[in-house]
Amino acid sequence: MPLDPLQKLNNFLPQDVVLQKKITTASITLLSLLVVGGGTYGFVYVHSLSARVDTLSRDLASTTYLLQETIAQATSTFADTLAVQGAKLGDFENAFDSISGTVDTLQKLTTTDKELLAKYSKVFFLSDNYAPARLIEIPAAYNYSQTKTQQLVPDVIPFLTDMIDAAKDDGVELYVQSAYRSFNTQEALKGQYTVTYGAGSANSFSADQGYSEHQLGTAVDVITTGTGGRLDGFDKTAAYAWMLAHAYRYGFILSYPQGNQYYVFEPWHWRFVGRDLSTYLHKQKKNFYDMDQRQIDTYLPNIFD
Ligand code: DAL
Ligand code: ZN
Repeated sequence: MPLDPLQKLNNFLPQDVVLQKKITTASITLLSLLVVGGGTYGFVYVHSLSARVDTLSRDLASTTYLLQETIAQATSTFADTLAVQGAKLGDFENAFDSISGTVDTLQKLTTTDKELLAKYSKVFFLSDNYAPARLIEIPAAYNYSQTKTQQLVPDVIPFLTDMIDAAKDDGVELYVQSAYRSFNTQEALKGQYTVTYGAGSANSFSADQGYSEHQLGTAVDVITTGTGGRLDGFDKTAAYAWMLAHAYRYGFILSYPQGNQYYVFEPWHWRFVGRDLSTYLHKQKKNFYDMDQRQIDTYLPNIFD
């Protein structure tokens, strides 16, 4: 009679319980050995991996640090080099500007009449042979006289006409009553004044020939309406107040203010000295004749700027 499958299996399995226990114990032991061995191997393996990761991390950190240091040094060296080269370029540009400026100044000095900023009054004499290299007529609209023309050094004319135009814009009328006067003209004028007023009085308001700023062709006597065509009383007019406030912007200064040591107060007599010097005098509240001639001369190269 054939055995059923369960019977077969029972027959196949050891019937001895002791043997079964041995097999079971052996299996458990083998399994435990496998688990412990595998675990230990795994632990050792993971530990060594972790140590390797640590080493790699340290290597990476030190390499990164070295790289950062190298980049920082290179950047700093580059910046230093750039700064040095920049400074050299700056020095070069400054030297170039300075040389150009000096050449420009020298050129202006050789072409600018040095008499234009010299003091000329009672004690400072201009050669009797002196006459400006060039003179041109003041446009008729700026001249008080309709019959007698007036002349000035050409470079001064634009400053004068700009000034008179600006005054007109402000509602103030200004005209030139007298401008360039030659040595001979001054001599004749002074002679007339001396006859009319006497030498003592004439000397207080009129320069001897050779001592007048009018011989330079850069000084003007200005007049306005309302004074009957006279210079006297100009200081009481709005035109004088306007000149005091604005003339410096056009390079003109009052040569003989109140209390000067050369002549009576001449509110009408204005001399062109250039905008740099007139502005300096205006701001410092100084008078041209109180300055040292050497200091005045430093303004000569830029007189027409
Ligand atoms: N009135 C001035 C001083 C001149 O004659 O130059
Ligand atoms: Zn004058």
